[in-house]
Amino acid sequence: MRCEIIQADCEQFLIQDPSEMFDLTFMDPPFNQGKEYQSHDDEMSESEYWGWMKRVCKLIYDYTSEGGAIYFMQREKNTQFVLEVLNSTGWTFQNLIVWRKKSSAVPSNYRFGKHYQIIAFATKGKKPRVFNKLRIDPPLLVTEKYNRPNGMFVTDVWDDIRELTSGYFAGDEPLRLNNGDRFHKQQSPVQLLTRIILSSSITGDNVFDPFAGTGTTLVAAKQLQRNSLGIEIDTDNVSIIKKRLYEVRYTDDILKYRESYLHTEMLDDIWPVYSINEIRTKIDEINRLEINTYNSKSIQTKLALLEKQKNYLIK
Ligand SMILES: C[S@@+](CC[C@H](N)C(=O)[O-])C[C@H]1O[C@@H](n2cnc3c(N)ncnc32)[C@H](O)[C@@H]1O
Repeated sequence: MRCEIIQADCEQFLIQDPSEMFDLTFMDPPFNQGKEYQSHDDEMSESEYWGWMKRVCKLIYDYTSEGGAIYFMQREKNTQFVLEVLNSTGWTFQNLIVWRKKSSAVPSNYRFGKHYQIIAFATKGKKPRVFNKLRIDPPLLVTEKYNRPNGMFVTDVWDDIRELTSGYFAGDEPLRLNNGDRFHKQQSPVQLLTRIILSSSITGDNVFDPFAGTGTTLVAAKQLQRNSLGIEIDTDNVSIIKKRLYEVRYTDDILKYRESYLHTEMLDDIWPVYSINEIRTKIDEINRLEINTYNSKSIQTKLALLEKQKNYLIK
């Protein structure tokens, strides 16, 4: 399985012919909102920025397999531009996914507080070559009386994936500097990429991320047995990605989310898990780890997860 990160400008990389076709792209560019980036100007003029997005989307389109997909994430206020960019570069619109935030919205005096980000899902050609209908089983509402025997299909509103905010609720998933600050303010949750990759690819497919950031797409793709290629302009980010891929941190381990998809048909095919021997080897490996390199609580949780996986083995 190939998992590669290249330090480059994604447009230049694509112009120079990537020599392979992509089956799925996750595109999470800088949002042009004046954020501090080491190797990128996040305050372009509107026309410069959207012209750039158009060129990148067209290049990706040219290197996408027939029926392949793109998921383009942006702020909701830019929805019309995202749809226009995708439409004018040949993509067929499929869904506007509303990724609803869990943390509270910033209040506004003259409009409703903004509480979601958009992810436009589009394909090359009318029909996706792969679309796996995922089933999840979110907690019942107080008005709902009976358990769902088969869970429910994932819709275009995703309200069960927590964003990686600053502060108390961020948890351990954000990569951090020694002083505790987040390494990268735009790190996406692995749970988000898990859903996208599971929905629009099969094992062995090529997943592409032109703005890799901290490498979340590659981290999820690797665990789901998809090939992945990430392009990132910033050398510090590239170093972090290499480190992150080398050893999957407990918080990056997507196994803990598998249970929420158990009602999905053919889950073992789109998300293969270890054989019993691989699980035993992993447990042995974890047992051998020094207590001071991993905290003991996370070892216990990880062991418990692996034990649980025995129930999901492919026959
Ligand atoms: C919004 S972040 C992506 C975050 C990513 N989804 C993650 O989970 O970490 C955008 C990234 O694009 C990178 N970037 C900016 N301009 C670029 C370019 N021309 N080519 C490649 N990467 C670029 C930035 O350095 C930044 O890390």
